[in-house]
Amino acid sequence: MALERTFCIVKPDAVEANKAGHILAHLEAKGFTLVAFKKTTLSRATAEGFYAVHKERPFFGELVEFMTRGPVVIAVLEKDNAVADYRAAMGATNPANAEEGTLRKLYAKSIGENAVHGSDSLDNARIEIAWFFAGSEVTAL
Ligand code: CMP
Repeated sequence: MALERTFCIVKPDAVEANKAGHILAHLEAKGFTLVAFKKTTLSRATAEGFYAVHKERPFFGELVEFMTRGPVVIAVLEKDNAVADYRAAMGATNPANAEEGTLRKLYAKSIGENAVHGSDSLDNARIEIAWFFAGSEVTAL
C-alpha cells in the first residue's frame, strides 16, 4: 500500500461542540499522522470555491451558510491508503447511515451538519490540500 495524504475539515458543528481535538485524536489513534493543521474561518468565496462542484445542488446555499458560520479545523492526514481509510473512518455522509464507531456516527447531527469532510480521491486530496495549505506549511511527502 502506498503512503498517501488526504484532506480533512472538522466542520463548524463539531468545532462549536468542542469536538475538534477528539476528532483529531481519534484519527491519530487510527494511525493517521497530522502533517499540518490549523483553525480558520472560511470566507464565503473560499467555501463557494471549495464546494463549486455542488453549485447546482439544491443544498448549496445551506452548505455555504453552514461552512462559514464559525471556525473549522483543517488538516492534512498521512498514512498508507489514507484517502480510503479516512473515508471509512468518517462513515457515510448521512449519519443515519453511518456505521458504529465512525466519526459521523459519533459526532454528526444530520446530512448537512455532518462534522467532517474528507477528500473522495487522491487527485482531489492534492487539489484540496493545495487550496488550503501553502507549500511552506506542508513538508514534502
Ligand atoms: P462533504 O463531504 O463535505 O461534501 C459535500 C457536502 O454537502 C456533504 O459533506 C454534506 O455536508 C453536504 N450535503 C450533501 N448532501 C446534502 C443534503 N441532501 N442536504 C444538505 N447538505 C448536504
